[in-house]
Amino acid sequence: MKKSRTVITVLFAGLTTLAAGGPALSESEPVPTEPLALRKIMQDMGREMGIIAEAISREAWDVVGKSALRIADHPRPPMSERMKIMSLFGKEMGRFKEHDMKTHDIARRLKDAAAHEDAPAVISTFAALQRSCLECHRSFRKPFQEHFYGKRVTE
Ligand code: HEC
Repeated sequence: MKKSRTVITVLFAGLTTLAAGGPALSESEPVPTEPLALRKIMQDMGREMGIIAEAISREAWDVVGKSALRIADHPRPPMSERMKIMSLFGKEMGRFKEHDMKTHDIARRLKDAAAHEDAPAVISTFAALQRSCLECHRSFRKPFQEHFYGKRVTE
């Protein structure tokens, strides 16, 4: 009994947060100034991609492997944020997650190719990784930013 009440309280807290982040409020209320945790995670992955591109030129396969692994194991946003994202994408959430899993898988393949010092495989897998990032961005970035940041798209 006590346990189920706790669950309800937690769910309700999540819903309240959802309502506070929703687009209806952002018209009258100031848009939250704190970017979501996902943005920081994305920025870190973007940095790793730069490191990989540079390391390929130096044939520094260990560096490629380490960065690929950091992308494959990138942290997830906190639960409260994941709930907001789920509620935004609704039925599309499955596709969003597929993009995420694909990126993880390809990053692991890139790590393996780097471990084998297989330069052509590293280069083609790196290209596939970039494509997997782009595919998710093309489908989801715009609605994500419009929902969470309103018109203040980037800074
Ligand atoms: C499952 C979907 C998804 C995948 C896969 C994905 N991203 Fe993103 N990415 C997003 C979303 C959503 C945003 C918008 C976040 C925001 O504006 O706060 C974003 C934004 C970014 C940004 C811009 C951050 C900023 O400061 O505005 C970078 C850089 C980025 N992603 C890098 C990557 C890289 C590199 C990969 C692949 C290794 C990748 N992303 C894969 C969903 C994804």
